Amino acid sequence: MEANMPKRKELGKSLRIKVISMGNAEVGKSCIIKRYCEKRFVSKYLATIGIDYGVTKVQVRDREVKVNIFDMAGHPFFYEVRNEFYKDTQGVILVYDVGQKDSFDALDAWLAEMKQELGPHGNMENIIFVVCANKIDCTKHRCVDESEGRLWAESKGFLYFETSAQTGEGINEMFQTFYVSIVDLCENGGKRPITNSSASFTKEQADTIRRIRNSKDSWDMLGVKPGASRDEVNKAYRKLAVLLHPDKCVAPGSEDAFKAVVNARTALLKNIK
Ligand code: GTP
Ligand code: MG
Repeated sequence: MEANMPKRKELGKSLRIKVISMGNAEVGKSCIIKRYCEKRFVSKYLATIGIDYGVTKVQVRDREVKVNIFDMAGHPFFYEVRNEFYKDTQGVILVYDVGQKDSFDALDAWLAEMKQELGPHGNMENIIFVVCANKIDCTKHRCVDESEGRLWAESKGFLYFETSAQTGEGINEMFQTFYVSIVDLCENGGKRPITNSSASFTKEQADTIRRIRNSKDSWDMLGVKPGASRDEVNKAYRKLAVLLHPDKCVAPGSEDAFKAVVNARTALLKNIK
């Protein structure tokens, strides 16, 4: 039997699943769960101490699903408490705050922590991950835009939702899609079903968009040395244009990256004799 297969009652169509929340302290994990389960929002920050546990029932198609939610503390201090809760999980809610770049950059470390705790025989492939880009109501402080978050999530085959625990935006939609995906996984023998959304763009495209986004100037963006010739600039431009052309590339952020490359080329050619 697959390690991640949930316990299933012999009779009827009910299913028991385990989901966990992950992400830095204060990104809004507990508030997202509270918004969905209790339809309310608490603005005062009450740090989760270790783990909070709750049970909820949801209906997915003809199945009654009993969901055991383990809401983890994000603070590093609680590592020793949460590390034993990673195993036998079917779904992970991975949260960051769109106004805190650190919390977005930390997502890889969260995956690494889980992988380490699951050990060499743990299988992360057959777990449903949903990424919540949370606190989208705080538009003034936003520093991680949708395409950046979506690109990270989708290049890993994860679901991605923009959420606000405060206003409720995206929360129900996120949980519904998440639970349906988990039930699909269970009905597929514990293996993640192949979907159209995965692999709709290449790793090269995703990496290039990220590189363009982080480039320090137009030379760097085109991947040429400062002082490069017209020919070198045009050659580099054509290569990127083929890779990122909006007609060919559906990766999140490709349109902006393409425009940036066009502008970088124009700016450089203006100053090259
Ligand atoms: P730990 O338990 O310490 O890991 O934190 P957490 O990720 O569970 O954060 P929590 O849900 O406790 O929320 C942290 C703070 O952010 C609280 O003050 C919340 O009121 C606030 N908050 C959570 N979600 C949102 C949101 O969508 N919008 C806004 N504006 N504030 C939010
Ligand atoms: Mg919490």
